[in-house]
Amino acid sequence: MQDYYRPVYHFTPRQGWMNDPNGLIQFRGTYHAFYQHNPYAPKWGPMHWGHAASRDLVHWEHLPIALYPDQDYETGCFSGSAVDNKGELTLVYTAHHDGRSPRETQCLALSRDGIYFNKYEKNPVIGGAPAGYSEEFRDPKVFHHGETWYSVVGCARENRGGVLLYRSKNLRQWDLAGRFCESSGDQGIMWECPNFFEIDGAWVLLVSPIDMEKARTIFITGEVDFEKPVFTQKRWRKADYGYDFYAPQVFTDDRGRRILFSWMDLWKGDFSTLTDGWAGALTFPRELFLENGVVCQRPVEELALLRKKELFSGPLSLLPGKRNNLSGIEGDCLEIAFTIPKNEAFLTMYLRASGDRKEKTVLSWDPSSRMFSLDKGHSGIGRPEKINIPLKEDGENDIDLRILIDRSSLELFLYGGKYTVTNWIFPQPSSFFYDIFAEGREISIPDMRIFELGLG
Ligand code: FRU
Repeated sequence: MQDYYRPVYHFTPRQGWMNDPNGLIQFRGTYHAFYQHNPYAPKWGPMHWGHAASRDLVHWEHLPIALYPDQDYETGCFSGSAVDNKGELTLVYTAHHDGRSPRETQCLALSRDGIYFNKYEKNPVIGGAPAGYSEEFRDPKVFHHGETWYSVVGCARENRGGVLLYRSKNLRQWDLAGRFCESSGDQGIMWECPNFFEIDGAWVLLVSPIDMEKARTIFITGEVDFEKPVFTQKRWRKADYGYDFYAPQVFTDDRGRRILFSWMDLWKGDFSTLTDGWAGALTFPRELFLENGVVCQRPVEELALLRKKELFSGPLSLLPGKRNNLSGIEGDCLEIAFTIPKNEAFLTMYLRASGDRKEKTVLSWDPSSRMFSLDKGHSGIGRPEKINIPLKEDGENDIDLRILIDRSSLELFLYGGKYTVTNWIFPQPSSFFYDIFAEGREISIPDMRIFELGLG
């Protein structure tokens, strides 16, 4: 089936490759998403900034490419951010130049209409990393605090990832404010795509470290001193437990929501979409919130705009030995939400299963070890990974779960959004069945809800 794996309600490039979300902003009421883009082929190449706009975060309109690597100081326009400077939409990005030194500098592109951009004639505005740092120096994320513009920029020094902080009054002249934060030793050799933001009174640094053994993208909470300036790490957590989540960006909208989009990463992917001429997508937008000092994520409420049909609503009782509890539920664009009450039995759920159940993606909950897992061993084309999320330290509470399925994408929000899992799966189009069943003992699910989703 032509282009079957293209998600329906997740953003994908029309053709060619995409990676990181860039320049996320709400400008004059409209949401804008830019993204790392190679329009010529479904693989990483000369980086452009693709561009799309939306009024509601779910319906996107493709706009002309915003940035081409067309200046003598760049062979690629790498990642960066956007700010509204008194009505001038300002993109702050990394000009990358293969074969030049310094290889990475920070530049501006300006627009009044939010569609056509001019590169600033005095680029670059930051001409390279300070002495002692490697030439890996990129992905400026600009924010306003007090009377000042700040930019966090990813960097590396002596094989440690870190973030440098710059200050500016006008976005044109920048001063190095200081070494803001650095890997504590086992947090990777370079930090890509830093974000620094305040949420419910806590300051959070979100980075995607290269070669960190334990995680690919992390939320770091800690204490900030803007005078020194330094951010002292207190604690880090994985931003997502899946394999296909990298280089997220967070912005604040006019309702004050902190909204995150991530690249649904296909770096190490199976590229089942390549034959259809495109690769990469954005996650569904997620609202961040703080719960006991932990950054949690939930799909933005605009998800409701996608609900076409309610397929199930109510309690569901799973008797051991009875397997066809979801007969009649079929589809490849669904939202499934329910709670597993505490102290219940072993629960298994098949997603995107074939008629003979040979193909399936398996979720399971083992209350004895309090382990939640997602097994992609029989999901279809692709890597047979298994992801385990231990909830041992989370007490004996109920487990709430929300699952978004969109053709080839799978996003899980678990335990009040404290854990998320983002993954591609490539089942056959005809694998659209679902099962949920208990083992050993009965499980009473109080609140199963299933919707068919679509753009409509
Ligand atoms: C992250 C990244 C960024 C860089 C961009 C290049 O995925 O490596 O650090 O700016 O992609 O496309």
